[in-house]
Amino acid sequence: MNSKAAPLVLTISGASGAIYGKEIFDRLHKAGVPLHVVVTATANKILGDELDLDEGYFKKTGVMVCDNARYDYPIASGSFLTSGMVVAPCSMGCLARISAGISGDLLERAADVHLKERRPLVLVPRETPLSDIHLENMLRLSRAGAVILPAMPAFTHRPQTPQEMAAFIAGRVLDILKIPNDVAPRYKGGE
Ligand SMILES: Cc1cc2nc3c(=O)[nH]c(=O)nc-3n(C[C@H](O)[C@H](O)[C@H](O)COP(=O)(O)O)c2cc1C
Repeated sequence: MNSKAAPLVLTISGASGAIYGKEIFDRLHKAGVPLHVVVTATANKILGDELDLDEGYFKKTGVMVCDNARYDYPIASGSFLTSGMVVAPCSMGCLARISAGISGDLLERAADVHLKERRPLVLVPRETPLSDIHLENMLRLSRAGAVILPAMPAFTHRPQTPQEMAAFIAGRVLDILKIPNDVAPRYKGGE
């Protein structure tokens, strides 16, 4: 990956499934994609609960990790060029606030920027079951140009671990962003 490529914004909000954010981060970082990372306060707690990690995991790699409570970062402005943005996992609260254009924190503002600039915005919601409100918010975002990529791993390739299930979703996210990858097995039809 060209290190002069526009950075990608990778954000993790406070839904269960922190492993999805970590897996996507690991794959993008390994691929040499320049990253600006945002972890919400609730996501930081869930990283601890589910993976015994916190945002220090991302900081120690040397990537830019932004404070979600501040706006004075490049990704808050449309004039800063990026290649796209991912929210994984995306909580229903976060998804609702983005769909309403609230821009109440850096993550929401960056998502708003990606929609207005017509750049790729991939949301990985994790909630079940879904209410009419959740579904309407997703439809509104999809119509505004976002890709709704639910945390729904396939089982065709018989994943054995949570990491393999998360890798399936990470691979789909990289596909949407047109980042060449072999993160997850690809279905080849009946053989
Ligand atoms: C342990 C824990 C697990 C949660 N899991 C989910 C979840 O899976 N999906 C969801 O939509 N919200 C979940 N929530 C609720 C969100 O954290 C809450 O809506 C919060 O406003 C999200 O804020 P954020 O998006 O800024 O991180 C969870 C909260 C906690 C404390």
